[in-house]
Amino acid sequence: MTPQTPLNGFLDIATEAALAGGAVLQKFWGKLENIQEKRPGDLVTEADQAAEKAVLAVINRHFPEHQILAEESGRQGNRESPYLWAIDPLDGTTNYAHQYPFSATSIALLIDGIPQVGVVFDPFHQELFRAATGLGATRNRQPIQVSQTETLAQSLLVTGFAYDRRETPDNNYAEFCHLTHLTQGVRRGGSASMDLAYIACGRLDGYWERGLSPWDIAAGIVLVQEAGGQVTAYDQSPQKLSSGRLLATNGRIHEALSQELMQVQPLVWNPPSIP
Ligand code: IPD
Ligand code: CA
Ligand code: CA
Repeated sequence: MTPQTPLNGFLDIATEAALAGGAVLQKFWGKLENIQEKRPGDLVTEADQAAEKAVLAVINRHFPEHQILAEESGRQGNRESPYLWAIDPLDGTTNYAHQYPFSATSIALLIDGIPQVGVVFDPFHQELFRAATGLGATRNRQPIQVSQTETLAQSLLVTGFAYDRRETPDNNYAEFCHLTHLTQGVRRGGSASMDLAYIACGRLDGYWERGLSPWDIAAGIVLVQEAGGQVTAYDQSPQKLSSGRLLATNGRIHEALSQELMQVQPLVWNPPSIP
């Protein structure tokens, strides 16, 4: 395809890649033989590797001249290209390894560093979330929108805890406690791309997290924005993928959630050592 390819062409290829990755995840479900820990709590399995291979085969076949940033195999391709595919073949590996069915294949296309196409496919519930800048967001090809929830007190939020949580006081524990008191609940989904997809379709009202990689969130950012939501840094300044941090909401609770996040002090707590 040429640089003039419209976004819906890219969206279709991203969809093909996400479906290919998801099919591999289904194939390995409940049959894992090789689960390794990259660091405490950060797992990688043969399903991550095989799904990434399937995704890369699709992207490389269609766009051999593009750049790729994939979680398991890193950066590859033409560094001069304005097109960068951010790929998480299995977002929610811990869930997957425990056969807790909340994981997805997440594929995004960034053009000049800006996420413009996002596809998140959950093969366990057969939910395909798609979006591209200016084209709206869909779930299984039906338009979706963020929720209408107006206040934190009426909200259901979601967050997560990065793999370095044992090594830093900036581990999100204080924020989790604080927001749990102010809302109807705070979930910990275990799959950042799915958390964002659930914001996009209105099942959840707000999401914040730190310690994230571009492949975790780039697709979900497009979904939320195209579903009418808002994505920023915690302080409402523009979100930078390299920061690893984001605040994503239905827009209506954005200001309130930002204000609460900005005033939380780290929890002083001495965690038990890992046996
Ligand atoms: C993780 C998930 C999780 C988030 C972690 C991510 P992985 O991705 O998205 O929800 O809290 O920070 O690393 O390791 O399952 O691909
Ligand atoms: Ca991930
Ligand atoms: Ca992953």
